[in-house]
Amino acid sequence: MSRFDGRTVIITGGATGIGLETSEHFAAEGADVVMAGRSVKSGTEALLRLERYKERVHFIATDVSVEEDVKRLIEQTMTLTGRVDVLVNNAAMFYESDFMDESTERWRAVFDTIVNGAYWCTKYAARAMKGTGGGAVVNVSSINGVRALMKSSHYNAAKGALDQLTRGTALELSPLGIRVNGVAPGFIDTALSVIGGVNELETEDFKHYYVGQRKIALARPGLPHEVARAILFLASEEASYIQGAILPVDGGLSITF
Ligand SMILES: NC(=O)c1ccc[n+]([C@@H]2O[C@H](COP(=O)([O-])OP(=O)(O)OC[C@H]3O[C@@H](n4cnc5c(N)ncnc54)[C@H](O)[C@@H]3O)[C@@H](O)[C@H]2O)c1
Repeated sequence: MSRFDGRTVIITGGATGIGLETSEHFAAEGADVVMAGRSVKSGTEALLRLERYKERVHFIATDVSVEEDVKRLIEQTMTLTGRVDVLVNNAAMFYESDFMDESTERWRAVFDTIVNGAYWCTKYAARAMKGTGGGAVVNVSSINGVRALMKSSHYNAAKGALDQLTRGTALELSPLGIRVNGVAPGFIDTALSVIGGVNELETEDFKHYYVGQRKIALARPGLPHEVARAILFLASEEASYIQGAILPVDGGLSITF
């Protein structure tokens, strides 16, 4: 018996990076997995990678920044499996920009994806969870939720808001038997680390400051599966008394200054 046998898990941005690793871990532990993402190409590639679980793994093209898309995602998931037990709000976008040059349109796009996307997904998934007596939501936040990075005010602000959404919904959804928690990754080796064609984790600056000087206590970037494991823990019965928590998964980056 695996931890997620018979459970249905929706993972937004579930076809790449941390999301894909999380999809694979849930599938390996018996879950029906719905990967929801904007890129059909990534979805198709992810389905190929997870072919050994093909009866239980699905991709539904979804833009979480569009409320109607999110409603359809939950409806289609209910048609597929008849339940939603776990939601992982993982979809996000990141780019560098100077605060003074930021356009309102791009600022809104970040909030629509990270904050409003999580709001709509949580709201419609919680209605489905209510019908089966509860569930678990895990929000993939970031160290940027509590620490600010240059040229990232949009992302810092959105992840800070996501942290408060985590606490607020944890409180409000407790009576429905729904636990809401978050993980806050530090530097993780995924496509999101590639900025302007350069993998920031491979630069001399990164190696000197974060690794050489142990600004990351464990002196290395993290790997997607190390975040996935924390997400599965928070979604599982092992975390039955954890509510509204945001777990750093950052190798000790947030304990240094
Ligand atoms: N990689 C890191 O260093 C790091 C650090 C802290 C937090 N995170 C967080 O981890 C999560 C996963 O990021 P990742 O590193 O795996 O990068 P990633 O780019 O592989 O994952 C982001 C996913 O979200 C999807 N997405 C973006 N906008 C969407 C939308 N509107 N609707 C649906 N899907 C959308 C993308 O297509 C992609 O699949 C994000 O929430 C990110 O903020 C990553």
